[in-house]
Amino acid sequence: MTLPPNLLRAGLTQERIPEPCTVIIFGASGDLTKRKLVPALYSLARDRMLSRCAIVGFARRELPFVQLMREGVDEFARRRPVHEDLWGTFSSRISYQQGRFDVPEDYRKLRVHLEELEKAHNLPPNRIFYLSTPPSNFGEIVKNLGDAGLVPKDGPGYARVIIEKPFGVDVESAKKLNVELLRVLDEHQIYRIDHYLGKETVQNMLVFRFGNAIFEPLWNNRFVDHVQITGAEALGVEGRGNYFEEAGILRDMVQNHLLQVLCLAAMEPPAAFDADSVRDEKLKVLRSLRPVADEDVKLHVVRGQYTAGSVLAKRVPGYREEPGVPADSTTETYVALEMFLDNWRWQGVPFFLRSAKRMPKRVTEVAIHFKQTPISLFGAAAVVPNVLALRIQPDEGISLVVGSKVPGQSMAVAPVGMEFRYASSFGVEPPEAYERLLLDCMLGDSTLFTRGDWVMESWRYISRIHESGDASGDTALPAYEAGTWGPAEAEALLHRNGKTWRKP
Ligand code: BG6
Repeated sequence: MTLPPNLLRAGLTQERIPEPCTVIIFGASGDLTKRKLVPALYSLARDRMLSRCAIVGFARRELPFVQLMREGVDEFARRRPVHEDLWGTFSSRISYQQGRFDVPEDYRKLRVHLEELEKAHNLPPNRIFYLSTPPSNFGEIVKNLGDAGLVPKDGPGYARVIIEKPFGVDVESAKKLNVELLRVLDEHQIYRIDHYLGKETVQNMLVFRFGNAIFEPLWNNRFVDHVQITGAEALGVEGRGNYFEEAGILRDMVQNHLLQVLCLAAMEPPAAFDADSVRDEKLKVLRSLRPVADEDVKLHVVRGQYTAGSVLAKRVPGYREEPGVPADSTTETYVALEMFLDNWRWQGVPFFLRSAKRMPKRVTEVAIHFKQTPISLFGAAAVVPNVLALRIQPDEGISLVVGSKVPGQSMAVAPVGMEFRYASSFGVEPPEAYERLLLDCMLGDSTLFTRGDWVMESWRYISRIHESGDASGDTALPAYEAGTWGPAEAEALLHRNGKTWRKP
């Protein structure tokens, strides 16, 4: 079924035009600004979702900023080719301020620049400071913004700060960063971004679960056998060997993106669809996660590291051969976890979560594996496991596998799929995650941003795994060849439970 254009338009615009504002990007010389942030703002403008928006880049180097942003929009914006008239207006409000993060004087200059800009373009003092810098700069930048009077808690206008990941590397560092931010800002001014929450399909998990009455009665330990969450990438570390060596896949993908996905899959219905109600429920999921005990870490956690192999028909080097990675690295590029939620709904249901680099293909999905029928009326061979897969990317959609009678004289049963595909049902390209999140921040809606207590709780779980591994002295790091679905030990994790990983 394809939706009529008027409904599609309503989905895109639904009274969500924010007040004019200025977005100030710290670390504007980085890749994110050119590839994601400015293209996202341009696409929003092209969709007429922004009334007026100025952009100020702030970084140390001298840069032909407007020209670089044009290249970024040309190459990466969802709405292409660039509309020249619109670009003319859009780019007339882009400017660049050269400055250092640790020099208070540069913040005073920024303040003057903003005041002049707002006057020239008749903009209210609504300001969003986007910190796309190394995390070690977050605290200092916020302090300097505070000292320069740039982030007042109350109006006129608003001052909001978006913080990129990673938010700390463990409980202690996240706590310290939170304290530094809260010395200057109120929690309602802080927008901790996780771009997975801006993905259409991730948001659709909420609509699928709580906008339909038929699935929720099944969504519990009476009907669900187990859940598999996969965040697989074909990519390697893409020149970020130094960063990845410190992070590993647990910090890079699991602590943030995949725990968010887990929360949306497992949470209770919120009392309302507002920031605090949704985030309260997500927090409860993390609080019910059973911590991994030292002696159990081997049982519930499998780590792995890729060796050279072939991905999508291309030879690729092993992780230890990547630039910036030491030859004796013990950083995991694969992790599989068996997790339990000690709560009323999910008691006894294992959640298997895996995430890795250099898998055979890119796929992010949540697969709900339902229990089998109490008896197999049509013979043991006819039992088809019912699996509901929420495909986050690529090939966004939802599929349900059920058993069906094979045409013919016997009662043979075979699996068949019921399919919903975004591309064919809606026929439009969904907005980019950063478009949604920037717009939400302009609207003051933090539902899809991460609250401080969630970050802390997620680190508690992840740090516990790191510590358990250290305490148990388990340094085993099984190898897997790039382009395969991970080490044999990860298969064993499921086989032990009489289950197997999906090969999506
Ligand atoms: C980032 C990680 O947060 O997410 C990267 O640092 C990873 O390592 C990326 O590749 C994955 O995002 P997406 O949207 O491509 O799934």
